[in-house]
Amino acid sequence: WWSHVEMGPPDPILGVTEAFKRDTNPKKMNLGVGAYRDDSGKPFILPAVKMAEAEIAKKNMDKEYSPISGSPEFCKATINLALGEDNEWTKNGLNATVQGISGTGSLRIGTAFLSAFFPGGKDLYMPTPTWGNHVPLAKHAGLGVKQYRYYDPKTCGFDFHGALQDIAKIPERSMILLHACAHNPTGVDPKPEQWAEMSKVIKEKKLFPFFDMAYQGFASGDIDKDAAPVRMFLKDGHQIALSQSYAKNMGLYGERAGAFSLICSSKEEAAATMSQLKIIIRPMYSNPPVTGARIATEILTNPSLRSQWLKDVKGMADRIISMRQLLRSNLAKEGSSRDWAHITDQIGMFCFTGMTPPQVEKLTKDFSVYLTKDGRISVAGITSKNVEYLAHAIHQVTK
Ligand code: LMR
Repeated sequence: WWSHVEMGPPDPILGVTEAFKRDTNPKKMNLGVGAYRDDSGKPFILPAVKMAEAEIAKKNMDKEYSPISGSPEFCKATINLALGEDNEWTKNGLNATVQGISGTGSLRIGTAFLSAFFPGGKDLYMPTPTWGNHVPLAKHAGLGVKQYRYYDPKTCGFDFHGALQDIAKIPERSMILLHACAHNPTGVDPKPEQWAEMSKVIKEKKLFPFFDMAYQGFASGDIDKDAAPVRMFLKDGHQIALSQSYAKNMGLYGERAGAFSLICSSKEEAAATMSQLKIIIRPMYSNPPVTGARIATEILTNPSLRSQWLKDVKGMADRIISMRQLLRSNLAKEGSSRDWAHITDQIGMFCFTGMTPPQVEKLTKDFSVYLTKDGRISVAGITSKNVEYLAHAIHQVTK
């Protein structure tokens, strides 16, 4: 039956891990996938997560099906985390929130909904570049994918004017994808005043903003600061779509906890969109897994766990920031004459190094340092023990 099926390419991000696993060099480093590691290079289970698991174990909970839209307690806690406790939108019942299968699953529900119901153009405008999975997942849902300028290779920073110019040219009543914080893959975020300007233009053009917030807390270590663009857009009068993930900020990668929300103009709209979201979810996977959402709910609703979690998030964000500084200073020690300021200017899990595909290939071949072809490194994979080796390797391929 399957002789006509051709071998497909490996995934641009997860395929890097497969190649890393095959390498026998003891010095090998996996800076491909964005997964946090502690300073010994080991996966990190957050203390708040361990405490939440202990609390959940005590409750002796059953394994019944979740509702199609997921745990109602989780949905309430997650939207309040994004919009702020006591915010006027959830208080007035304007949100339709469903539990999703981490970030990707939530985006997939959202794009399926937009594909079926968005009343304007069916193209989703994405920043250039954007997370590798955004494009295929939107296409999979039947949306067209278009782009707007975002990253400036000359400065390794945000191309604010390019972005504004392109956004101003997007046809009215189109959809635009925005990374709420810690832009993946570039680590480049707009400043608050630039967000304000973008919000204005997006409003004038009657565009529909779809926020992907996969890193709340991870960029600055402060959950409110990282959610500020989402809250600003709502205050500016936008209705938004929002995808959330607990993979990074709670380290719940394999638990697949996330959410998709629409903020509507009335309770009736929220109820109707909610009913359609459930109709989309049911034939895809029936209802979501329970464990990750239970952990996230426990952390978000139990005050002592929540304060532990805020410390944990800050600790992860701070370790990443210190690795950025160490990498930059070690490159200087190596004698690199290149300007590496962007390593410390960029934010979140990733650094978009500016290395070219041939340089990336050499880094992997000669030094067993694994990263995506676009030159992105997951800073979370660097430790105080391997940063010198990494700086040496980067200098050798870029000098
Ligand atoms: C990444 O960009 O490395 C992460 O978001 C993990 C993934 O699923 O691609």
